[in-house]
Amino acid sequence: MILPIYLYGHPALRKKAGEITPDYPDLKELVENMFATMYNADGIGLAAPQIGLDIRLFVVDLEPLAEDNPLYSGFKKVFINPVIAEETGETVKMEEGCLSLPGINENIDRKEKIRVQYFDENFIFHDETYDAFFARCIQHEYDHIEGILFVDRISGIRKQLIKGKLNNLIKGRVNCRYKVRASDGKN
Ligand code: NI
Repeated sequence: MILPIYLYGHPALRKKAGEITPDYPDLKELVENMFATMYNADGIGLAAPQIGLDIRLFVVDLEPLAEDNPLYSGFKKVFINPVIAEETGETVKMEEGCLSLPGINENIDRKEKIRVQYFDENFIFHDETYDAFFARCIQHEYDHIEGILFVDRISGIRKQLIKGKLNNLIKGRVNCRYKVRASDGKN
């Protein structure tokens, strides 16, 4: 089932999400719905707060990028109760976008390497390190479950420059192929 994606300005995106247990109701179906919603919007990552759930879960699938770089092939993962245990290396600038902020792309500074501990969809524990774009995606999605959006990480001047676009998102004035839900709940 394809779910509406909550837009910038919706309070659901600002909550610090809570951990879940293996008996979380209909977890398998939820994960399937999140992948379907993400694919429908041509995204490569989606976090539970973006569909209005304040739980520590996000999905990533980098397969769409595999056409240009086979390195990304088969990277389809579910992260439950993740913890970024370490962030190391150089600070790298890279352009990011987000399904909750359609039409906005900004350069964001992040550490290039992470160590992440998480449970997968079968509640099997993993302790892994990632760098480059893999780390970037996980850091972006992890921010979502902390109630942080990538535009929180841009300079005051940049934020001022995109203020009009942000206000349009708050008001639900957006031209979007996929189903969204704005802060006023009217979309
Ligand atoms: Ni995002």
